[in-house]
Amino acid sequence: MTRIGIIGVGTVGRAVVSILEENASIISARAGDEIVVKCGVVRDLAKGSDLTIALSQDPYDILNDPEIDIVVELMGGVELPFELLKQALKSGKAVVTANKALLAYHRYELQEMAGEIPFEYEASVAGGIPIINALRDGLSANHILSIMGIMNGTCNFMLTKMMNEGADFNTVLSEAQRLGYAEADPTFDIGGFDAAHKLLILASIAYGIDAKPEEILIEGISGITQDDIAFAKEFGYTIKLLGIAKRDGDEVELRVHAALVKNDAMIAKIDGVMNGISVIGDRVGETLYYGPGAGGNATASAVVANIIDIVRSGKRSPMLGFNHPLEEKLRLKNSDDIQSKYYLRLRVSDKPGILAQITRLFANYTISIEAVIQRPSETECAHLLFATHEATERSIRLLIAELKDLDAVLEEPFMIRIV
Ligand code: HSE
Repeated sequence: MTRIGIIGVGTVGRAVVSILEENASIISARAGDEIVVKCGVVRDLAKGSDLTIALSQDPYDILNDPEIDIVVELMGGVELPFELLKQALKSGKAVVTANKALLAYHRYELQEMAGEIPFEYEASVAGGIPIINALRDGLSANHILSIMGIMNGTCNFMLTKMMNEGADFNTVLSEAQRLGYAEADPTFDIGGFDAAHKLLILASIAYGIDAKPEEILIEGISGITQDDIAFAKEFGYTIKLLGIAKRDGDEVELRVHAALVKNDAMIAKIDGVMNGISVIGDRVGETLYYGPGAGGNATASAVVANIIDIVRSGKRSPMLGFNHPLEEKLRLKNSDDIQSKYYLRLRVSDKPGILAQITRLFANYTISIEAVIQRPSETECAHLLFATHEATERSIRLLIAELKDLDAVLEEPFMIRIV
């Protein structure tokens, strides 16, 4: 019998308990052993009174229990779980975690500490989609050219409702929270940080690159209005929050931001809480992974798969996929050098010469305009909506800074990248 302890028995932890109980027969057939939850750690014992497992409020009841072989960390946060999992590894216990924030900061230290001890984290990226497995094992023969996808279910759920139903930002955010998709602090979702944590994990497996969230371009979905959605619809785009990792020579660009995606792209068709990730390998070509990226059962499905895999034992993949560092060292590309097309929304005074004044600034930064629309706003105001050809992040940032200072520009310019 294999005994596990779960630190954090919330939505996902409860689903893990129920899968292990209700699917016990198929799980033990696959694992070759019976798997039982010996203890679950919760903050509030009263809230867990309906659970069928033994409960404690002290994680050390799991860490100090010699009968527990696998520690499942589902508590969230960064430094506290880091300390607890270091302790688990010191005691020789295998670890399964769904904690992407922890891994975004400490994956290399944890890999170092784990050594031969199993440390698995499939549920940390894209919930129920086995993307870690695919990237680390299924595509291990390839150089990875790019990873691009929808990695945050909450944002995709919100953007889909805003696009299809004209729903308002705050109403759909509350709905995503109620459905259990959003992080405890939903700014992690809408600010793009959750997707960035996931992208960093994938980039380590694909490129062996050690970057922290603070070093990459991260923008979220706040500020998107029905004006932007109308523009997107008129030009055949949908709006998605994307995580992108792309190799360019010996550099890798990493970025998370909202993007206008052409309606006929596969990624544009991924709606609701679903996640979808395209991975292009130099030999396999494009592969696409699709499925539920959030929610108790989907996430728990990946957690339990890791537990089964550990119980089966045998030769394991190294935690981040590499047995030794790559000979060709890849560097993180400076975010200022990333190239993209851009959509810009400006609210301006509707007077003669304003458009000319604005387009002159575009020309000063050699940013070429692909399309422009003027829509009337309130009296003597208008919205100018621009789509540009490719330009660098540096030049668009400088342009926006200058536009912001023009008297004719009445509020902060708003920008979405076009992919
Ligand atoms: N809040 C996350 C999401 C949950 O919405 O995708 C899964 O990581």
